Amino acid sequence: MMLFNMVIRPFLARLDPETAHRLTIRALKCGFGPTVRVADDPRLNIRVWGMDFPNPVGLAAGFDKNAEVFGPMGRIGLGFVEVGSVTPLAQPGNPRPRLFRLPSDRAVINRMGFNNEGADAARANLAQRASKTDRGAASGAIVGVNLGKNKTSEDAASDYSIGTAALSEFADYLVVNVSSPNTPGLRALQSTDELLRIVEAVKTAKRPGPKGVLPPVLVKVAPDLTDEDVADLSVFALSGRESGLVDGLIVSNTTIARPADLKDNAVAEETGGLSGRPLFERSTEVLRDFYRRTEGQVPLIGVGGVSSGADAYAKIRAGASLVQLYTALAYDGPDLVAAIKRDLLARMLADGFTRIGSAVGADHK
Ligand SMILES: Cc1cc2nc3c(=O)[nH]c(=O)nc-3n(C[C@H](O)[C@H](O)[C@H](O)COP(=O)(O)O)c2cc1C
Repeated sequence: MMLFNMVIRPFLARLDPETAHRLTIRALKCGFGPTVRVADDPRLNIRVWGMDFPNPVGLAAGFDKNAEVFGPMGRIGLGFVEVGSVTPLAQPGNPRPRLFRLPSDRAVINRMGFNNEGADAARANLAQRASKTDRGAASGAIVGVNLGKNKTSEDAASDYSIGTAALSEFADYLVVNVSSPNTPGLRALQSTDELLRIVEAVKTAKRPGPKGVLPPVLVKVAPDLTDEDVADLSVFALSGRESGLVDGLIVSNTTIARPADLKDNAVAEETGGLSGRPLFERSTEVLRDFYRRTEGQVPLIGVGGVSSGADAYAKIRAGASLVQLYTALAYDGPDLVAAIKRDLLARMLADGFTRIGSAVGADHK
């Protein structure tokens, strides 16, 4: 990783961010990444939805939109990798530029608009995984598939159903993403009536994987929800869990809000979703609210502004069974994953927890 820190990272930081991202994906596909995965400390293992996650730190959606590099990303030590968002049909996304760095804020604004190669391409990439006898073992990571809808589609439930039918057999879990700010009307699908239609369609379309297991379904929400939205969605998630329609929530996507204390003022005016450090407080507050309202009965993935072991641990104590990150990884590079895991372990042990699962929701006890 020395090479990455001394040569590659400064080089990538000078490129426009989308080019840097494309080069990173290409390098990972060509094998410029770790070839083996270092085993995790067993005290970081956690069982959620009947699956054993080697550690609770995962890659958030949007980095590997076409499921091209989940193997190498797993080998940098992530406990799970979420690919997507995948839409049924390929689409180009919004015109460039559409990705902006706010380096003084350790943040990013994006209005990518679900640029991706569509469900058939993602399926072909994921199918390679299924053809390996060890499935996830090559990377050790669990792979989630995040589903979106095409910009021009007028039937959202049908889009999520098509994505599910195409990809569920290769997914360890599925995500119904109704919270990206860059697809017109998408966030309105967070109303419980709309969501019910979608998760029912997803349930009907699900196909079992090689082990005969149907993947759990999670709903990814925005941090810009009102208290009332959080209350409604908590009731929805609790009843969805009972009826087998919803297995968990991912809290949260990027925010359309612009905190008053942003330093990169000029860039902050760009339209799109803000991620990274300025998102941490709000996304953790919403996560905490969901945990409290669902009384810990619905597993939660906490995402938004995680850039250290302290951040990951704070999300776990607030109620996250698992955490994810994206923006901090783009700034700090792959070494960050090991650093977060090391610090997470030290913090949980200092608090007297011998397994990470015991720290989940500790703030509420
Ligand atoms: C460039 C970029 C693209 C993203 N694309 C997606 C996406 O396709 N689907 C999705 O659910 N979230 C997407 N996200 C949101 C992330 O998954 C995550 O929820 C958000 O960035 C907050 O985490 P972070 O602060 O660690 O980056 C994207 C984020 C970024 C920065």
